Amino acid sequence: MSEAQYVHGYSVREAERLHDQAHTLSALLHEGIAYAPGRRVLEAGCGTGAQTVLLAASSPDAELVSIDVSADSLALARARVEAAGHHNVSFRIADLFHPPFAECSFDDVFVCFVLEHLAEPAAALGTLRRLLKPGGTITVIEGDHGSWYCHPQTAAASRTVACLIEIQARLGGDSLIGRRLYPLLVQAGFREASVIPRMVYVDDTHPDLVEGFSRNTFIAMVEGVRRQALSLGLIDESTWNQGIADMYRAAEPGGTFCYTFFRGTGLK
Ligand SMILES: C[S@@+](CC[C@H](N)C(=O)[O-])C[C@H]1O[C@@H](n2cnc3c(N)ncnc32)[C@H](O)[C@@H]1O
Repeated sequence: MSEAQYVHGYSVREAERLHDQAHTLSALLHEGIAYAPGRRVLEAGCGTGAQTVLLAASSPDAELVSIDVSADSLALARARVEAAGHHNVSFRIADLFHPPFAECSFDDVFVCFVLEHLAEPAAALGTLRRLLKPGGTITVIEGDHGSWYCHPQTAAASRTVACLIEIQARLGGDSLIGRRLYPLLVQAGFREASVIPRMVYVDDTHPDLVEGFSRNTFIAMVEGVRRQALSLGLIDESTWNQGIADMYRAAEPGGTFCYTFFRGTGLK
């Protein structure tokens, strides 16, 4: 996937945003995920390793294989996993649509925040399913930007978020994919597909979430498409600035933020 096709890009700020997101939400999104000793687990689209370090820690005796199309991201992921002292991960540059692995060669697959960027998420799931041994598991975590709301909510804030949704759609992705996870898993042939919503609710009694989620994950993600939103004429500059300011206002005392992630599982 080229930089131009990937809505969030591969900047330093985006790498930091992904790590803030993973760190802040680890309890919510990774709860109960632990692969047994000896399991061979494929992490597809590992990016800079934000989820990889969590998986390596929670499944110290499983063998993780983490792939991504971005060599730069893989280098950061490898460095991060080594710095955390984990030795159970191998990294490989690979396109998940053309995986350099034999069919039925993994016990488990883990995918997080990747399908939303793909024009063919069902085909991706089908390819990943073929890599699983019979009875193997898949875990998929995605967001859904349509699930976001805040207080005070303003029309300008909603417009800025709508720009991100529109830009990702124009790039072939779907930032509303969380709600489609169940039918996608079923369509790809997974048995016992099941999806659980994981809601983040933030007010100023949770300063860690105000900082780690509202500001550094969600608002940072929206701010990341400023240039495209303005150059495509999706919004005028003053409405954009107002919308971003309004979102920051909702991250101040008295404001609230809500967002729902979706975690899907299935069996081959
Ligand atoms: C939003 S990042 C998520 C990274 C990581 N899973 C996380 O949760 O922090 C999406 C990642 O998917 C990767 N990706 C996109 N298309 C891919 C493909 N066809 N094969 C492998 N990786 C892909 C991108 O390079 C990017 O690193």
